[in-house]
Amino acid sequence: MINTDDFYQLIEARKSIRKFKSTEPPKEKMDRILNAALHAPSGKNRQNWRFFVVRGPKRDEYLKYSQKSWNGIKDVLKVRLKPSLYEFTERFFYTLGDAPIIVFAYSHNSEDEKYLTSVGSVYMAAQNINLACVAEGLGCCTMGAPLEIKKEVDEFLGLTNLPDYRDGKLELLFAIAIGYPDHNPPKAPREIAGRITWIE
Ligand SMILES: Cc1cc2nc3c(=O)[nH]c(=O)nc-3n(C[C@H](O)[C@H](O)[C@H](O)COP(=O)(O)O)c2cc1C
Repeated sequence: MINTDDFYQLIEARKSIRKFKSTEPPKEKMDRILNAALHAPSGKNRQNWRFFVVRGPKRDEYLKYSQKSWNGIKDVLKVRLKPSLYEFTERFFYTLGDAPIIVFAYSHNSEDEKYLTSVGSVYMAAQNINLACVAEGLGCCTMGAPLEIKKEVDEFLGLTNLPDYRDGKLELLFAIAIGYPDHNPPKAPREIAGRITWIE
């Protein structure tokens, strides 16, 4: 059984990585990480996550889409981020930090399940991927940005002719850029105040 301290260290070691070495992680590592995603809990055990793993030339092709998604976000970030962080984030969108692998996560929605339960189940799998990356010596960044260009991503991945897509069941939720970390950013601060309430 895993040591308790090791477990919490793993949780705390996770942070979003936005700069990667170009070396692609071996397939065995990726298989273990994706298998960890499949062990997440899901509403009614529907396992309604669908992952599309993009690498190689297809990953290179995605960069122009990522650049486009920046246009939908940049105005909000211009106000929220200090200039150096804004520039770093812009570069991240243009290069995806050289991440060699991008996993696109979809929910397979159904009338048999509440919409939020379906969506939440896929996010449970996302956290497994995030933590498995740490365990494998990799880094990752979960990205909602592709939602800015949802339809284009669906087309880019070649999903629009699938019967489930045509039936409106397949929905893009996020992407995760994965690779070997090439920076060691400070841990983003955490707030405790007001986040947890015990009720007796
Ligand atoms: C659902 C979700 C969407 C996110 N979208 C983006 C994104 O589009 N671009 C990005 O650079 N980071 C994105 N992030 C990463 C967050 O900015 C990051 O998790 C947060 O700032 C806390 O930092 P940490 O992950 O290093 O602890 C996203 C995270 C989540 C959970």
